[in-house]
Amino acid sequence: MCGITAKISIEEHGVRRDLLRSLKRLEYRGYDSVGFATNNGVFSKSTSPMSEFISEVDEDVKSFVSISHTRWATHGGVTHVNAHPHFDSTKTVFVVHNGIIENYDEIREELERKGYDFVTETDSEVIPFFFYDEMIKNKKSFGEAAKEFIKRARGTFAIILTIKNDDKLYALKRDSPLALGILDDGFMLASDIFAFSDETNKAIFFEDDTYAEIKKNAYSFYDSNGDVQSTEITVFDWGVEEEDVQDYPHFMIKEIHEQPKTSKRLINSLETEQKKELSKIKDLIGEAKRVVFVASGTSYHASLIGVHLLNRRGVESHAVIASEFESFYLVDDKTLIIAVSQSGETMDVVTVIKKAKEEGAKIVSVVNVPYSTIQRHSDVSLEIRAGQEVCVASTKTFTNQLITLFFIAKLFSYKEDLSLIPDKIKKTLEDNEDKVKVYAKKLYKKKDVFVLGKGATYPIAREIALKLKEIPYVHAEGMMAGELKHGTIALVEKDTPIICLIPKNNPSMLSSAKEVEARGAEVIVISNDKSNKEVDFLVPESDDAQFSIYSTMIGHLLSYYIGVLRGVSIDKPRNLAKSVTVH
Ligand code: F6R
Repeated sequence: MCGITAKISIEEHGVRRDLLRSLKRLEYRGYDSVGFATNNGVFSKSTSPMSEFISEVDEDVKSFVSISHTRWATHGGVTHVNAHPHFDSTKTVFVVHNGIIENYDEIREELERKGYDFVTETDSEVIPFFFYDEMIKNKKSFGEAAKEFIKRARGTFAIILTIKNDDKLYALKRDSPLALGILDDGFMLASDIFAFSDETNKAIFFEDDTYAEIKKNAYSFYDSNGDVQSTEITVFDWGVEEEDVQDYPHFMIKEIHEQPKTSKRLINSLETEQKKELSKIKDLIGEAKRVVFVASGTSYHASLIGVHLLNRRGVESHAVIASEFESFYLVDDKTLIIAVSQSGETMDVVTVIKKAKEEGAKIVSVVNVPYSTIQRHSDVSLEIRAGQEVCVASTKTFTNQLITLFFIAKLFSYKEDLSLIPDKIKKTLEDNEDKVKVYAKKLYKKKDVFVLGKGATYPIAREIALKLKEIPYVHAEGMMAGELKHGTIALVEKDTPIICLIPKNNPSMLSSAKEVEARGAEVIVISNDKSNKEVDFLVPESDDAQFSIYSTMIGHLLSYYIGVLRGVSIDKPRNLAKSVTVH
């Protein structure tokens, strides 16, 4: 949530060409507003869409030092004044911030007592005034000011500062991600490596409660005591996919179509270079008393499939939604946490793994973004190798999360052949996409949709419902078919659409479909059973677990095509961000 980028270079760089081009790559982190500032006092911000804003920035705006921000609003509405960069009243210190300063009101009151006038509703505005007071008014060094800020501020922050007529970039971080990219002509700071992965594969990742001063040709990192910190340059491998939307109208449909390729790449890597990690995971699961999956949203749905697979093989497993972990789960040193996260940055998951580590638990992670916070805090990490996912909604990454979990289950006698998955994904698309378009026309005016599953398809019912809410903004409920009769069936009226996920040999799901049909519902069946005469979408044959991939794909396509008919913003749904880095 919120993306920040900054550049410092030996030669002057173009704000539009260099800085904002990389900010655009972080747009999926939030798109409520956008802005930039340079150390020669030029700044601009707006609540217009980022592309529009960038196109209006003059090519001639150049600088040695510049910072930028794309916002996902937390404190204060989506307004021009609340957009970053924030600055002090003399417009000397400019700041971009990702995170939340929890005790901002107390810091703000103190600064107001000193005579500073605040103009925004944001927590972030305390930062420029704080540093102005320390560095400009009281003539302290950045280091002294940063140490004081780290001591005073509660909450999370990745902060970058530029000061008018000062030729350095300043940064500090706690809990929100921040990396320094090493470029040929200088350095770039950013919330994640995708901001600069087209320019360099070398980065330094900030530790918590550290700060850095970046010059045009050098950098220094310090811990919260002001002691110099040794840093390690990581050489990363990322950005393997074609990065533009190519011939597709949206990233979502492009990413759905990438799945034969991305699933194949993952299977290859799990069978070769990631094999070692898998065997370490086998040992860790063997040593643990129980396995607890921790995740949010779509990644939680994948985790539920993981639980289903492992429990059936005698490995006690649970899945807990990260934001509720503390209230509903206890961890000890016999617990193995498996954190599942596309971004590897979801704050609720990060919080759980940090606390679990303190209790002595071991951490395994399944992430898409390498070197993400969650990966860096794990004992063992598997990468799902789906490549950059630009659409806010997860599609190809969900499929690859599932495949990775099948590989973990294979360590415990899951016997199904996984090599056929890429071809079956392709066939699912070929056989069903046109039909989905027809169904989308039937469904796009409906107000409510229900999705029913059982066993391995229950998480899929939830996943399809989530996508129907997230993309076309259709109210949808995904539930266990068995629970329907305990209340929700009261909502079923004539023509209420109910999607039923019915894998082969599932008499109980067949009965649930009949029960709602008898009450007038419009039943839509997704199945892998050729002999079922009432199938609307037939997907390739497989066991229940792999049926989850193919049936989800129908749900994802349906959400996409209903969204297209509703004319909504497919890749950037309202109010959402891809990387949820606040609680
Ligand atoms: C929905 C979606 C979200 C994410 C959730 C967790 O399409 O993408 O529900 O799954 O925000 O994000 P990660 O996987 O990055 O931890």
